[in-house]
Amino acid sequence: MSHPLDIAVLIGSLRHGSISRKLAEILKALAPPELHLSFVEIGDLPLYNQDFDNEKPPEAWTKFRERIQTSHGVLFVTPEYNRSIPAVLKNALDVGSRPFGRSVWNGKPGAIIGSSPGTMGGFGAVQHLRQCMVSLNVPVLQQPEVYISNVDKVFVDENGVNDSLRHFLTEFLLQYHKWIEKIFGVENVFSKT
Ligand code: FNR
Repeated sequence: MSHPLDIAVLIGSLRHGSISRKLAEILKALAPPELHLSFVEIGDLPLYNQDFDNEKPPEAWTKFRERIQTSHGVLFVTPEYNRSIPAVLKNALDVGSRPFGRSVWNGKPGAIIGSSPGTMGGFGAVQHLRQCMVSLNVPVLQQPEVYISNVDKVFVDENGVNDSLRHFLTEFLLQYHKWIEKIFGVENVFSKT
């Protein structure tokens, strides 16, 4: 393969010291050479407003849409807020989905990592996100499912997680890569750009 797949990573937390962002950074470091993970920031996207579908949209929306459009896949790393996804992530989904018929999500192979300092690992957020993916026509990697519980205790130092989680995340990334190639074929994936 001459160049890696470009995977847009969306993080469902804006706060400094976000555990989700730390996990995303670890995923980036663990990714196989065939996957290039790059963070797409969603905190500066104005709230979606349908009025802008018929007039000039905010610059940040246009840039975001173009960025997702050129990616080969989307990886979501999200905490759970009130048993669902954080509003900032839902806003990004809505912004990318419009104007009607021009959704940038359409057909992008997706994968989801949920986490929580609690015991349920963000299960509710992941399930709600999967529900949105159906509407957005984003095929999502089915297995392995990722719900990282007690996530505040998995870090061994600034740069890493415990062995068991590191192996699991490495395997997850390999499966994600294999699956993208299997369902789309390498040449088809590259022809999307
Ligand atoms: C939470 N948190 C939380 N946790 C959980 O397991 N289920 C939930 O429904 C919620 N709900 C929730 C709502 C709001 C508004 C906040 C701010 C937090 C706790 C959450 O999992 C925890 O703060 C994570 O550390 C947030 O992720 P980041 O910011 O560390 O990536």
